Amino acid sequence: MKENKFEFNYRVYDSVEELPEDQRHLLQQARDVTANAYAPYSNFQVGAVARLASGDIVTGSNQENASFPVGLCAERVLLASVASMHPRTPIETIAISYKSDHQKSDHPISPCGICRQSLQEYETRISHPVQLILGGMTGPVYVIDSVTKLLPLAFTSEELR
Ligand code: THU
Repeated sequence: MKENKFEFNYRVYDSVEELPEDQRHLLQQARDVTANAYAPYSNFQVGAVARLASGDIVTGSNQENASFPVGLCAERVLLASVASMHPRTPIETIAISYKSDHQKSDHPISPCGICRQSLQEYETRISHPVQLILGGMTGPVYVIDSVTKLLPLAFTSEELR
């Protein structure tokens, strides 16, 4: 028997002001697009913004439904838009933010498990690391260099060959 270990490094900034200008701007855009969320059931609005290698900016927000499982997270709305509008264009960076009617938005949230699976496959199929910037409306900001780091032991298309 041997024991394996998984760990990864990510950067923690005390506030958005510490970020480089381009990252700060992208996080601000993610904060702004929370306004496009349709979240009348959870009252938890998520905004996601991608900057592509082409320089294009694409946005996504969570879109809920009275039939709860139909709802989509901001990250998967974003990925579907990128894949539809800019097929095969690498995503350089995705910024994710949120606001909530029930709690303070003063710390980062990170993508749910289903979104991690989607992000991981997008990164792998385009063969380009996707950087994540995670932050609330205030408070610390996390920067992660590759979404694959968030999903150790992922189930991938390799298994289906
Ligand atoms: N949500 C996202 O959009 N992204 C996440 O990473 C976590 C959760 C949405 C789904 C649902 O509309 C609301 O936030 C509450 O779970």
